[in-house]
Amino acid sequence: MKHTDIKILFSDSEKFRDKSVTVCGWVRTWRDSKSISFIELNDGTCLRNVQLVIEKNIVDEASVKPALAVGTALQITGIFIPSERNGFEISVREITVLGECPVDFPLQKKHHTLEFLRTIPHLRPRTRYFEAVFAVRNELAFAIHKYFHKHGYKYVQTPILTGSDCEGAGEMFRVTTHPWNTAYKTEEEYYANDFFGAKASLTVSGQLEGEIAAMGLGKIYTFGPTFRAEHSNTPRHAAEFWHIEPEVCFCDLNEIIDIAEDFIKFIIGEVLENCPEELAFFNERAEKGLIEKLQTVISNDFVKVTYTEAVEILKKSGKQFNFPVEWGSDLQTEHEKYLTEEYYKKPVFVTDYPKDIKSFYMKQNSDGKTVAATDLLVPGVGEIIGCSEREADLNKLKEAMVKRNMPLEAYTEYLDTRKFGSVPHSGFGLGFERILMYVTGVSNIRDTLLYPRTVGSL
Ligand code: 4AD
Ligand code: MG
Repeated sequence: MKHTDIKILFSDSEKFRDKSVTVCGWVRTWRDSKSISFIELNDGTCLRNVQLVIEKNIVDEASVKPALAVGTALQITGIFIPSERNGFEISVREITVLGECPVDFPLQKKHHTLEFLRTIPHLRPRTRYFEAVFAVRNELAFAIHKYFHKHGYKYVQTPILTGSDCEGAGEMFRVTTHPWNTAYKTEEEYYANDFFGAKASLTVSGQLEGEIAAMGLGKIYTFGPTFRAEHSNTPRHAAEFWHIEPEVCFCDLNEIIDIAEDFIKFIIGEVLENCPEELAFFNERAEKGLIEKLQTVISNDFVKVTYTEAVEILKKSGKQFNFPVEWGSDLQTEHEKYLTEEYYKKPVFVTDYPKDIKSFYMKQNSDGKTVAATDLLVPGVGEIIGCSEREADLNKLKEAMVKRNMPLEAYTEYLDTRKFGSVPHSGFGLGFERILMYVTGVSNIRDTLLYPRTVGSL
C-alpha cells in the first residue's frame, strides 16, 4: 500500500516539508470541534504519533466522522507541515477508513494497568508501553547477534525436541503423540511405541548440543526458545523463555566471565544508542533513573565475589532472612537481592558454588568442594546469567553423573566430546527476557513476551 512509515517522517523531516504524504496507522486519540478535528495516529514504526489536522472545509465532511474513533485503522493523505509543538503535523486532504473500530475496543483510555493489559495479550501491542517493550526486545536481539558475529562466533540452532535433560533438574515438558493406554505394561514399552521410539521432551537448554558444536567450530552461540516446567509462579519465571547460550573452547572460567561482562555492556550500549525514546519512556513509566543506571553499568566493572565470601557477607549483614544462610545451601532470592541491591548496588558475579547444588557438567575445583561456576546477579532482576567452565575430564564428569543417578548411556555422544580430544571450554546462558527486564525496568516477565506462558496460564 502506498504510504510512508511515521518513523521516516520524523527522521527525515526536511525532505517532506510542504509535500504531500500518505501515512497509515491506528487512531490513538482524537478531538473534535465544529470546524476542525485532531487525530493522533500511530503505525507501530516509532513511539511517537503523528498529529493529523482535519479542517472540515477542505476535507470531504462525510469521511471525517467514521475516522473519529480510537483504534480505527486509517490511510491518510495530506500536506506535511512543520510545527513548533510536534515537529510536524499533517494537514489532511483525504481520509480512507481501512478498518472501523467499534466502541467495545478495550483500549479507550490513555493508561491501562499492566494487569489489565495481560488479559488482552492480542491487543496490547497497540499500546505505547508494549510498542516500547517490543522495540527494545528487537534491538536487544539484534545487538546480541551483532556482538557474536563481530567476535567470530557461529550461530548454531540446537534442537528443541530432545531426549536428554541438560540441567538434570527434571523440569521438562514431555512431548508425545500417544495417549496412555493400559495395554502398555511398562513405561519403557509406552515410550518405545511413541513417535520417536523414546521419551522426548522440550529442551531446557541448548548447552549440551552447543558444546558438541563448539568442539569442532571453536566458538558458537545459540539463541532460541527453551522450556521449563517449573512451578515457580514469580515475576521472573516463564515456562517458555528465550535463551542465549555461547560456548567457547580453549577458555576458562575467568575468561568466560570477562566475555560475559563485555557482552552485557555491549548489548546495553547498543540499546542506549538506538532506543533513546523507548528508554526515556521506561525511565518515566517503569523505573526512575533507568538511563543513568544503564550508563553507570556500562562504564564500571562488575563485582566478582566467591560464594564462600558471599555467605560471609550475608551472615555479617545483620539481616533477618526467611531462609537461613548456610555454606552449602543455594542462595535464595532474598540473599541475591541483598548482595546486588543493598551491599554492592551493581551487577555481581558470584563464583565457585558448592558442587552439590550445581549441575553435573561444571568443572570441579581442586578444593574438592566447589565448581568453577558463576551466576551473574543484577539489582531488580536477580540472576540473569548461569555460567561455568565445563568439566573436561571424562572420568570426573562420569563420576559426577553417576553420583546424580544419571543414565550414562543416554549421554554417550556428549561423553565422546571428552573422550576424543577434550579441551578446556566454558559457556553461559543468558535469559533473554531477564536482560530485557533489566534494560527496560519492566518488573514482570509476563510483560516482556508476546504471549507469556506461565504455570496455569497458556
Ligand atoms: O542457570 P540456567 O538454568 O543455566 C543453564 O541452563 C545452562 N545450561 C546455561 C549454560 O551454561 N549454557 O539458565 C540460564 C539462564 C538463567 O540465568 C536465567 O536468566 C534464564 O536462563 N532462566 C529463565 N528465564 C526465564 N524463565 C525461567 N523459568 C528461567 N530459567 C532460567
Ligand atoms: Mg541458574
